[in-house]
Amino acid sequence: MRIVLTVAAMQKLARRWKQAGRRIGLVPTMGYLHAGHLSLVRCARQAVGKRGRVVVSIYVNPTQFGPGEDFTKYPRDLKRDLSLCRAAGVDVLFLPNDREMYPVRTRSRGCKSADEPRSDKRGYGTCVVEDQLSQTMEGASRPAHFRGVTTVVAKLFHLVLPDVAAFGRKDFQQAAVIRRMVADLNFPVKIIVAPTVREADGLAMSSRNQYLTGDLRRQATVLWCAIQMARATAKKSRTFPAMKLKAAVKKLVECEPDAKLDYVEFFEPKTLVPVARVTRGVQMALAVFIGETRLIDNARI
Ligand code: PAJ
Repeated sequence: MRIVLTVAAMQKLARRWKQAGRRIGLVPTMGYLHAGHLSLVRCARQAVGKRGRVVVSIYVNPTQFGPGEDFTKYPRDLKRDLSLCRAAGVDVLFLPNDREMYPVRTRSRGCKSADEPRSDKRGYGTCVVEDQLSQTMEGASRPAHFRGVTTVVAKLFHLVLPDVAAFGRKDFQQAAVIRRMVADLNFPVKIIVAPTVREADGLAMSSRNQYLTGDLRRQATVLWCAIQMARATAKKSRTFPAMKLKAAVKKLVECEPDAKLDYVEFFEPKTLVPVARVTRGVQMALAVFIGETRLIDNARI
């Protein structure tokens, strides 16, 4: 397994692979890898074949975290990630740092205009914004989150030149936004969305589960309980008012002493448009604070 640290080296390698006719699969991650990430590596490998090349990127992307979120304490364990990737048959681990991904302006440009704060040392001025599917749920709770995600994923696509890129259904809205970006901006990349990998008790695997100490780990299963409850309710009545089901979810979630519902939504899986009545085939998504830790989950009803 090769480790690539710079943008220039990654681009050079990707171009060489392209010229040699190799298919390239990309799995973008923020590291602290778990079985969910590794399932994406398997999907990418399957899609590109033995002769193809699988790249895993690990980059804790600062621009997708809001102020006061967990950017600085996001879990990191490069040594462990390395050995997991090696064992999973990854060809290249791409590990750019902040300076590579978001250059800082080093030389003065000689002009100090009033509308350009001196503290702004950004060496870039372009970002990618999806402005339809990004408005609700995660987008509403975390303004600028998806702008950070689409920008960094677009950059990764330009650096790795993947034929296919694998994402997890765990981040349902993220996958939808990326699909839209790829379609709107004509990226020649096939997007694969793989099922959510769960712990035995139903908790969706997440790097942030690491934060769940003591009883918080038990309380975190309430997201899965809420999904089960919503499914059972919809199954029994075939069509059920979304408002009523949202209230029931909030009540169930907040029975746990440290749980606070951020949002729960029922929506059309393709358009993400909220529905008034919950029926079979509707998608449910929720975000819950368990103590300080914000967890998300989703499922088809
Ligand atoms: P991260 O949270 O590290 O997740 C990387 C990929 O793994 C995402 O596509 C995510 O949906 C998928 N994933 C996470 N948990 C999963 C699970 N339990 N089952 C299946 N897939 C799972 O998502 C990001 O990083 C970032 O936003 C990124 C796309 C890398 C851009 O910075």
